[in-house]
Amino acid sequence: MSSHAHVVGWGKYVPQRVLKNGELSELVDTSDEWIRTRTGIRERHLAEDGETTASMAFQAARQALEVAQLSPAQVDLIIVATATPDHLFPSTACLVQDMIGATRAAAFDLSAGCTGFIYGLSVAANMLSSGAYQTALVIGAETLSSITDWTDRSTCVLFGDGAGAVVIQMGENKGGVLAATLGSDGSGGDILWLPAGGSRMPTSQQTIDQRLHFIHMKGREVFRFAVKVIHEATCEVLQKAGYALSDLTLLIPHQANQRIIEAAARSLNLPLEMVYSNVEWYGNTSAASIPIALSEAVEKGRIQTGDLVVCVGFGAGLTWGAVAIRWTRPHSVPVSLSRRALRRLHYSLARFRSRLRRLLRGLFVIWIKNGWNGDQRRHE
Ligand code: ACO
Repeated sequence: MSSHAHVVGWGKYVPQRVLKNGELSELVDTSDEWIRTRTGIRERHLAEDGETTASMAFQAARQALEVAQLSPAQVDLIIVATATPDHLFPSTACLVQDMIGATRAAAFDLSAGCTGFIYGLSVAANMLSSGAYQTALVIGAETLSSITDWTDRSTCVLFGDGAGAVVIQMGENKGGVLAATLGSDGSGGDILWLPAGGSRMPTSQQTIDQRLHFIHMKGREVFRFAVKVIHEATCEVLQKAGYALSDLTLLIPHQANQRIIEAAARSLNLPLEMVYSNVEWYGNTSAASIPIALSEAVEKGRIQTGDLVVCVGFGAGLTWGAVAIRWTRPHSVPVSLSRRALRRLHYSLARFRSRLRRLLRGLFVIWIKNGWNGDQRRHE
């Protein structure tokens, strides 16, 4: 992969409404203590009336464009990774395209479960590297509350809603998206799935009665699979990029469960400080979790220019994947640098002007004195 697709903007959105563990224990037979010790989750945000995957994606995208200082008309491509689109069709990406007014953009949705954002970033970086496009918006957005069975304690404690977005753009500097690795194993499809509502099991009274329009999951199997693929995908993507684990600055894993994050850190022999986690405050937001975490990590100063970051995901499909990013600016004269240089030039010029003024004043005084003395000597 060409290494010139850079992340130039980022943004995140979570709904205002917060559901704490204590409130969940009023819905199902669970407790704050059980949820925290088994998952690390304290609270999650849930979409309010009128909020949808597209509306949350729009908020995150708008923020990412603001950071990138780009107008919607400059966006060539929009990819929305989601398992909870507003509709089967039209795509959520088209809804976002219209909401932001990205009149020149191609737009499509991508379905790879919780790995969706990693798939989207990899696809977008390759489409940019091919020369076909200059600027892409990659969004992960989910309204998981709409497919959560609020009577099933084994799943309803895990999920939250939200959206995260990045803008990637081609630039001449080396760095940006260095490498990606993607994987799938469809034989594990029924470990994590939403059985009904598609062409295989269209919606009927029976599917509704059997609660088949909600997430069904074999938790322990997902757990084992997750720890294994986080390890493998992280090592593989670093190797592809030509780096070792010791070169890594920050690992951003899919935020499904704090125990998965800690087990993966142990298996990779990474200190926990090098593995970003915010699952405590958002729960598992599926395809939105990595871009939300990435945006938050940048906002908190956990990612600086020059850092090597790996984002790694796993999810329904089964799917998994990782992307290695060198956090760089696309162009060699970054805006802030040129601003700093201009400021320095301004001060140097001001200093030079004041020295010149002093010098001229001095020369003038000498000339006056000499002229006066010369006149006096002539008179004598
Ligand atoms: N509150 C209280 N008890 C519960 C709850 C709950 N919310 N949920 C399950 N239990 C009970 C079970 O009924 C079971 O009781 P039993 O022993 O009497 O049968 C007991 O707790 C243990 O259940 P397990 O499922 O074995 O619990 P486990 O320690 O495996 O934790 C969990 C379950 C948290 C789901 C864990 O397996 C896990 O995190 N798996 C990973 C799955 C995941 O993160 N999925 C997210 C979506 S997938 C994705 O993002 C790709």
